[in-house]
Amino acid sequence: MSSAPLNAEVVIDPRSPIAEVDRRLFGSFVEHMGRCVYGGVHEPEHPTADERGFRGDVLELTRELGPSVVRYPGGNFVSSYRWEDGVGPVGERPKRLNLAWRSLEPNAFGLNEFMAWAKAADVEPMLAVNLGTRGIQEACDLLEYCNHPSGTHLSDLRRKHGVEAPHAIKLWCLGNEMDGPWQVGHKTPHEYGRLAAETANAMRMVDPSVELVAAGSSNSQMPTFGEWEATLLEHAYDQVDYVSLHHYFDPDTQDRADFLASGVVMDRFIESVVATCDHVGAKLRKRKRMRLSFDEWNVWYHSRFTEPTDRGLLGMPPLIEDDFTVTDAVVVGDLLISLLRHADRVAVANQAQLVNVIAPIRTIDGGPAWRQSIFHPFALTSRLAHGVALRTALRAPTYQTSEHGDVPVLSAVAVHRDDATTLFAVNRAERPLDLAIDLRSLPGHDLVEHLAVADDDPAAINTPDRPDRVRPRRLTTSAVDAGQATAHLPPVSWNALRLTPRKD
Ligand code: AHR
Repeated sequence: MSSAPLNAEVVIDPRSPIAEVDRRLFGSFVEHMGRCVYGGVHEPEHPTADERGFRGDVLELTRELGPSVVRYPGGNFVSSYRWEDGVGPVGERPKRLNLAWRSLEPNAFGLNEFMAWAKAADVEPMLAVNLGTRGIQEACDLLEYCNHPSGTHLSDLRRKHGVEAPHAIKLWCLGNEMDGPWQVGHKTPHEYGRLAAETANAMRMVDPSVELVAAGSSNSQMPTFGEWEATLLEHAYDQVDYVSLHHYFDPDTQDRADFLASGVVMDRFIESVVATCDHVGAKLRKRKRMRLSFDEWNVWYHSRFTEPTDRGLLGMPPLIEDDFTVTDAVVVGDLLISLLRHADRVAVANQAQLVNVIAPIRTIDGGPAWRQSIFHPFALTSRLAHGVALRTALRAPTYQTSEHGDVPVLSAVAVHRDDATTLFAVNRAERPLDLAIDLRSLPGHDLVEHLAVADDDPAAINTPDRPDRVRPRRLTTSAVDAGQATAHLPPVSWNALRLTPRKD
């Protein structure tokens, strides 16, 4: 194969806005699963733990990662969870079977601990209610406990538990993956649509200011995909603010060229859910445009995962502590670009999960915490993507894939505000790509920084011994000449190119 550079062009023009980027696009997820909570965010015996048992090293890395919103407590876990088990004096809390993950839930960490952790991490909470084994009443009870100021049984119980001011939680998920036969309390689309609508109506009676996410399909390969969203929305279009999407990308079940095209798969998935929402909206004569919450996404070596079976015997064993490679980081960066490209419809997105479980942050019990390769594109996108996402006109060669047809080698989006513009770009090709950046609509701007995640060894990973083996590197930048800059994108790379107005 030739190693000569390919050529591509991109035009950045602030007159082509997609939408203001919602900070909630950079969300994450903490589930009572494996070592995400216990041994991840919470480990009282750890040398860095504070008086609440929060690991200080994980908190520090979380702040550096920069998630805006964190979904909690599941995931599949929530579908058989009793939230009351996780509040009040810790010593009096019951141990329960975690049905979703066949383990033991000690309930040492619950709602109020999560809220204190979220405050310390400076993230917005996004809570899920159990619509698997429970229903409308328990969802309202939980909301009353969290958001009602005082003077009712449950709001006063919260105050008795030491939380005087209401938690004022805005974002709520109405169950999780209720279309999946693996889900405790799995439902048909009609059953779920009715329940979602009625739960939403009742929750708004408790607190009219909540924003509600209806659970869409667990992924685009579900047999009911499309029909699930349409049926649910026929029941609940007026009641919900968002429909959720979940998708994980498995490097082991496809060839490398297809895996590198994951951004295209995400684009198509988002666009098909938008089409379904708009179809139902048109049928029901609605002016409201449904927004999307992509509240579980990531690379996941799913085919290596075996469902745990030793219910209750193993405590909380590690689950899916995948090691992520340079290629995985490039794909994660591309998935973030796809989310930004759809900033007009996708308002919330959560990478799953935050710590240990398919996560950007890994830990050892009693030992160090470190950044996985996928940490870097997330942290940099969250840090740099402030402003308005721009539609970028692209000219790029394509490459062939077996599953997704001909795919452009270049994936890109720009985010602009007056004092800084960032072009996020992925080179999906195994060859370098010389990218001409047309800046005629950004006169007086310089290309001031080019950060890239790429490596001669695309399988390189970070480990506790070499925690910075994979990290972003600064590449040399070209001068802007006649309204054009040129960037050299390494083979299979994720890139952030920062442009700022020249100071005269
Ligand atoms: O994130 C891991 C699991 O994947 C979640 O619990 C579930 O919602 C999804 O299937």
